[in-house]
Amino acid sequence: MNEQELEHVAKALVTAGKGLLAADESSHTCEKRFASVGVECTEGTRREYRQLLLTTPRMREYLSGVIFFDETFWQATDSGQPFREYLDTNQVIPGVKVDKGLIDLPGFANEKITQGLDGLPDQMADYAHAGAKFAKWRAVITIGDGIPTDECIRANAFVLARYARICQEEGIVPLVEPEVLYDGNHSIDQCEAVMARVFDSLFQTMRAFRTYLPGVILKTSMVLPGKDSGAPMDYDQVAKQTRRVLHEHVPHELGGVVFLSGGQKPNDAFINLNRIAKSGSNPWGLTFSYSRALQDPVLKAWAKNRHAINATQQLFQRQLFFASAASKGELNESSLERDDFVSHSQDL
Ligand code: G3H
Repeated sequence: MNEQELEHVAKALVTAGKGLLAADESSHTCEKRFASVGVECTEGTRREYRQLLLTTPRMREYLSGVIFFDETFWQATDSGQPFREYLDTNQVIPGVKVDKGLIDLPGFANEKITQGLDGLPDQMADYAHAGAKFAKWRAVITIGDGIPTDECIRANAFVLARYARICQEEGIVPLVEPEVLYDGNHSIDQCEAVMARVFDSLFQTMRAFRTYLPGVILKTSMVLPGKDSGAPMDYDQVAKQTRRVLHEHVPHELGGVVFLSGGQKPNDAFINLNRIAKSGSNPWGLTFSYSRALQDPVLKAWAKNRHAINATQQLFQRQLFFASAASKGELNESSLERDDFVSHSQDL
């Protein structure tokens, strides 16, 4: 592995004012999202929708990278240029999700482990050869009665560390994602405590597996009260506790930190990021890697009128603008409250 190149790509992914578009929804997830807006989900419609996102004017001003699902990684624009090459020519870094999804962790009710390590070195070599510069692996941690167990945390830390080292062998920057789910009725303090345990275990294991931490990106949840807890979203508290758990439990030499939106309302995901960015300096570049917060209104608009490409792309551009401004702590939050652009475009 060339440590310098890994570090260079990791730093580029967290360039100030830019972030990542997570466009790596599996075909199964797309099936559900497209069904919710009444669009048939085929390889063709998935390609059409992703092309609309990627060819949005000015997207390169806001995006440092895009994460693809395997199918999309190999797809091409109408003119036949592979999406990954199209991004490269726009100075946006192509990446790919390489895990094979979640299965139950045998013996541990309601806990999950991520599969996909078998055969990964060969696949990683193929992705690297085709131009992938970074890869993502998502693990899921659920908060509930007696969970997460230490065993679940350690089992996921082990596969994340193995995956990360496999990436780096091929010169690919690993995005390690231990997503602590927003679902549940836990308190914000419980969320912070769980995230601290997860990070401690993860980085201890990654060091043991000899991953080069400056060439790694952490993709993380924010510290939030559970979605069903009834607790209101207190943006300053989220910022304070998210910042604290990151500063105290994430190695300062790491290449960067990016956030998932995790099912928060898009505006909450933007405001929380804005408050986190405003709350002081950090040892790493810190930005967004959102799927739903960037795409939800866009998908709805596209489903309503698939010919209104310009208007839908403007809507996506607007979401990117919000996320980019938030990542710098420069978001005018009152411009979100009006939300006139969004509601107008949803009526397309
Ligand atoms: O793995 C999670 C995705 O990459 C981010 O999706 O922003 O909808 O949580 P989300």
